[in-house]
Amino acid sequence: MFITFEGIDGSGKTTQIRLLKEYFEKQKTDCSVFREPGGTDISEQIRTLLLHGGDEMDPVTEMLLFSAARSQLIAEKVNPLLEKGTVVILDRFYDSTVAYQGYGRESATIGVINQLNSIASHKTVPDLTFYLKISADTARKRTEENEKDRMERAGDSFFAKVAAGFDKLASEESRIQTINAEQSVELIHADILKAVQAFSRS
Ligand code: TYD
Repeated sequence: MFITFEGIDGSGKTTQIRLLKEYFEKQKTDCSVFREPGGTDISEQIRTLLLHGGDEMDPVTEMLLFSAARSQLIAEKVNPLLEKGTVVILDRFYDSTVAYQGYGRESATIGVINQLNSIASHKTVPDLTFYLKISADTARKRTEENEKDRMERAGDSFFAKVAAGFDKLASEESRIQTINAEQSVELIHADILKAVQAFSRS
């Protein structure tokens, strides 16, 4: 089973991924977690460029680097693990490229980004995607103390476009489950488990 988590910065993905991994471990189901961009030596080097490189990075360069990091992760780790029957959870996947580079930066049309995503993912599609939805206010409150990386310095109007992009994607794609991430950690986890168990039964 291939599960991805999406949402704007501060949506609580990391906590929910940890809880879901613990659930699979209790079930004695093999489960691997990776973050995007990252998860392999090459992809982590690309991550450093993307998040800590200079502010002069061209938006098309940025889009291609996120895709390059993804291609390496899928080819080197995700696809071999899925073939072995391991559950793979990703902290972000190609929906982030649609939302951030497509709707946020407008680096290319959504059609072109979809084609790029198909190449970079080696056509591997998630079984389930959880979109942890929070308001811009909650996101600001949760992230204001953090030291900002290059993406997080982009500003409020950028994040509003990204959030609207995630909303649109979620309304178009049936694999994407929108979760009210303003709820308590326990309630969010319960919603996620319900969807995972329903998928496993189907
Ligand atoms: P990260 O520190 O992992 O943020 P978070 O904990 O919010 O996931 O940094 C990833 C950043 O990169 C985040 O701001 C979203 C951005 N991003 C894109 O712009 N496009 C992409 O395709 C991906 C995977 C991430």
